[in-house]
Amino acid sequence: MLLISILSVFYFNFTVGQNGQQCTTEKRCQCKDVESGLFADCSGLNLNSYPKFFDGIVTIDVSFNKLKNFPSTIDVPTSLKHLNLSGNLLARIDTDKSRKLFTYINNLESLNLSSNFIPLDPKIYTKNIFMKLTKLKSLDLTRNTLTRYEFRNLDRVIQPLVSLKTFAIDGSEKISFGV
Ligand SMILES: *[C@@H]1O[C@H](CO)[C@@H](O)[C@H](O)[C@H]1NC(C)=O
Ligand SMILES: *[C@@H]1O[C@H](CO)[C@@H](O)[C@H](O)[C@H]1NC(C)=O
Repeated sequence: MLLISILSVFYFNFTVGQNGQQCTTEKRCQCKDVESGLFADCSGLNLNSYPKFFDGIVTIDVSFNKLKNFPSTIDVPTSLKHLNLSGNLLARIDTDKSRKLFTYINNLESLNLSSNFIPLDPKIYTKNIFMKLTKLKSLDLTRNTLTRYEFRNLDRVIQPLVSLKTFAIDGSEKISFGV
């Protein structure tokens, strides 16, 4: 009997080590090694704060949680290339936290802010908010709160994004480029 229980303990440890590769401090996140690099999948876990993401992670998916803020620079590694924050409770982008973050994760290639509550508003999207994101290829801002204000120079906000290939926003007659 004793021998059997010791064996099962060893077996348990072994399986945890094999399948439960950890890349964040949140055990429910799934860590996958995909072609592009380490992928931390924390989608749909009811998170209202960020776990710490370990160094070397390339993709973070925290979509469909209850996050009200952007992650801080100590939560995410500079290796980050893809950040999916869609389907959360973000309401502003012009916070100190997001400013610091967008300066820090300057290898970012895709940012998904779809389905949040961030109005496309010139006061919130300040001119230099994306200044350092020169590698960003994809930016999704769809399904956010409709703006109450005219936004006539959105092009100035995305101008620093010199690698941008895909940019998605909801159509609104209040928004235009360089008029
Ligand atoms: C979030 O973005 C990542 C990286 O672009 C993607 O792989 C993932 O499928 C996205 N999640 C959802 C729920 O669309
Ligand atoms: C952003 O995430 C949503 C899921 O919330 C997904 O449907 C959409 O395709 C993503 N956008 C891009 C550009 O991948």
